[in-house]
This record gives sequence, structure tokens and C-alpha cells, in this order.
Amino acid sequence: MKKLVYFKEGMSMERIIIKGGIPLSGTISIGGAKNSAVALIPAALLADGVCTIKNVPNITDRDALFEIVQLLNCNIEQNDKTIRIDSRNLENKIISQELSTKLRASYYFMGVLLGKYKHVEMYFPGGCNIGTRPIDLHLKGFKALGAKITKNKHKYTISADELKGATINLTFASVGATINIMFAAVKAKGTTIINNAAKEVEIINIADFLNKMGAKITGAGTETITIDGVERLEGTEIEVIPDRIEAGTYILMGALLGNNLKVEGIIPEHNRALFEKLEEMGVDFKIDGNSVILNKTDELKPTNVTTLVYPGFPTDLGQPMSVLLTQANGTCVMEETIWENRVGHYPYLQKMGANIELDGLVATIKGKTKLIGTNINATDLRGGAALILAGLIAEGTTIIYDIDYILRGYENIINKLSNVGAKINIEEI
Ligand code: EPZ
Repeated sequence: MKKLVYFKEGMSMERIIIKGGIPLSGTISIGGAKNSAVALIPAALLADGVCTIKNVPNITDRDALFEIVQLLNCNIEQNDKTIRIDSRNLENKIISQELSTKLRASYYFMGVLLGKYKHVEMYFPGGCNIGTRPIDLHLKGFKALGAKITKNKHKYTISADELKGATINLTFASVGATINIMFAAVKAKGTTIINNAAKEVEIINIADFLNKMGAKITGAGTETITIDGVERLEGTEIEVIPDRIEAGTYILMGALLGNNLKVEGIIPEHNRALFEKLEEMGVDFKIDGNSVILNKTDELKPTNVTTLVYPGFPTDLGQPMSVLLTQANGTCVMEETIWENRVGHYPYLQKMGANIELDGLVATIKGKTKLIGTNINATDLRGGAALILAGLIAEGTTIIYDIDYILRGYENIINKLSNVGAKINIEEI
């Protein structure tokens, strides 16, 4: 029979096939945090020397960043998860749209090159599948430090005769803006204070890296970050913290299919909001040091989830969490409050049999419903992860298209799942 494959421009030429309903047993090890690594790699260019970054996750976002670092004439050596970046011959070149659109986090090169050279030119188009993703708060911070910004279509030129410390009040606790302002302020003259700073744990990882280079940053992880500008930053080394979102995604799989599934290499405190929800639902999990052991729980109690900035329930786990909610006995409400369009996965869950009513960003989910395998499309990174979760519990076979989104942020996800018993593989279309 002719393959009924739905192609669209730029669609990945591979698909994921999952045979659902198989318990997961064994151990999944968590890698370095994507949302730390994508900031630590550009940050290394602030140093006048060689930096070593350990525990870098093997994801395509990493490769995209390497291309930009090499464009800027920095040497990169990679030995498995450890990379060395030599920025002594850095050339401050224009970063093309082709390179900058490979990942949103390319915007960190704005703060780094502005902070180091007081000048940066790069293309940076907006938008992605979960929202318009403006960078107005980043730019407001750069202006407060004395930069002038011109934008011609999608090309930004950001320049300052001098960068001077300032007090910057963020109207929203933006992760990217907090980090990018730190980068731009770290060598500015005087003191910068960021009020209403984001408190995500990745920011502490990045501040630690900069302080080891010789920066003077206090308050990372709190709502007020103080940066005293310094003259010079030296090469140093840092380790990427564990990925709390990768961990949370596998923890949710354990809640649904675990048979003594161990998720190891986590920092439980980073997933506190998730564990509190799992507790409320009656999920069988035991935290043991930097691991958690999960067993499938049949009688799940309903709960309501609202995504919030850290330490609230993370927006990046909202989509995978919505799959667990389809298996609770009763009505759950999942509300997304951070991104204006993080709901692309719901139509596919409905196609699989989930009973979901979506009103804007509020999903009313009635469970427990059986999910049936079918053809579905990933719409974004975490939405794709949610669909893998759904395929793992569904009856029959699920085929997921547009899987490049997923491979951007989950290192070796097929191997990690196959190694604990999942019947999952990738095949050419
Ligand atoms: C980071 O994105 C993460 N990405 C996102 O993870 C995560 O969802 C988000 O933080 C929130 O935790 C990386 O770290 C690479 P924000 P970021 O600035 O920094 C609005 C994933 O799945 N906003 O905190 O871009 C924005 O539109 C990704 O791994 C402005 O209005 O997030 C959004 O509604 C997805 N103006 C909200 O703030 C700005 O200048 C959160 O954005 C910046 C942001």
C-alpha cells in the first residue's frame, strides 16, 4: 500500500516508530542541561584564553553553536562530553541568518560580543513554534548599559562607545534577558543591578563560570543580580549541571510505565515542583540521593498544573505533564502561562483518543483515557517529547514525524529508551 506520508517543506526525513504499552526497567542517566550549555558555550568567548566545558550534552543545538564559534575563528576541541574553546584568535564577524536561525539561543552571542568588543552585528529573526519570542528585554538591557541599537529587517547592529553599569528592572523574569545582560555587563565600567532577574538554576551555572573567569557576580539564582565590571576574564573550566527538563521528561515516563525505572544523575531540588505534583497524584517514586526510582501507578489522582517561572512548575515540562494528566482518574486542568502558543501537541493527543478541551492556553483534560497509536507530528521540542510519552503508553504503534525538533534537546533519546525496554526506533521516511 502507498505510504501515506504527509510531507512539508523542511520536514525531517526520518520518523520515530513506537510500539506502546511496554514497561520500562533499568537505568536512564541524565546528561548536561541544554539550557545551560547553550549559554556556557557562547560565554566561553568572553575569556581571553582557553575554556573547558564538561558534561556538554550531545544534542544538535550544541553542533549549531559550534558552527558559530568556529565562524568567529575560535578553535574547538571535543573529547566526548568535554569541549575546549580557545578564543585567543576570536574575530568579531557578522553572524549570518543561516547560522543564527539554527537555534534561538544564538542571541547569547549578542551579549557576549557586545560585552567583549562593545560591538556586535548579527541577524536574528524572531518567532518559533511556541511563540513570537521577542528579545525586547534583552535590547532594553543593552541600551541601559549605553549601547545603541539599529535593526535593519532582521539584522541587528549593537554598539557602545563605553558600557557603563546600570540598574535594569526586568518587566518579566526572562531567562534569556537575565543571562544576556550578565554577558553585556560583566566587563562594563561600574556596577549593574538586574531587578526581577530570572531565578532558573541554569543562571547560577553560568554565573559560576563567569566568576571563575574573574567576573564579580553575586545574587545569581535570586531576583536581584549584581555585577561589578572587571577589566579582563581568563580561561577557566566549568561543568554543565544536569538537565532538569530531560530528567523530568523521563521521570514522567517512569510514572506511566516504570517497573523499577531508575533516573540517575539528577539534582532532586531542581525538580521539586514536579515531585510535588507527582506526590499529589499518588505516583510511586522514591528519591535516593541523585537518583529517583519510579513504578507505574494505576490509580492516579487528578490535579491542576499552572506553569510558572522558577521555582514554579516549569513551562518546559507542561507538555509532557499533560500526557500524565490524561491517565488520571478525573478532571485535570493544565494552564500554560509563559509562552503564548505552547499547545501544538494537544490536537495529536486528541487524535490518539485523549479527552481534552482546549480554551486558549488552558486545557481541561478528562481521564483516564486509553490512547491509541496513530500517525502524528512533533510541533516543537517539548511537544515532541510529549508525543513520545504518549506513544510509549498508547495501544499499538505510533509514528511521529518532524522529529528534528526532538533531537535538538534530548541527547540519545532512542538509545536511552531502548536500553530500558522501550520498543522505539528511528527510520528513514
Ligand atoms: C528559556 O527561553 C529556555 N530556553 C526555554 O526553554 C524556557 O521555556 C524559557 O527559558 C522559560 O523557562 C533556553 O534557555 C535556550 P524567557 P527564553 O526569556 O530565555 C517573553 C526549551 O524547551 N519575553 O524566559 O527565550 C517570551 O516571549 C526552551 O528548552 C519577552 O517578552 O525564555 C516568553 O513569553 C523553550 N521579551 C517569556 O518572556 C524578551 O525580551 C519567557 O521567555 C524575552 C522574553
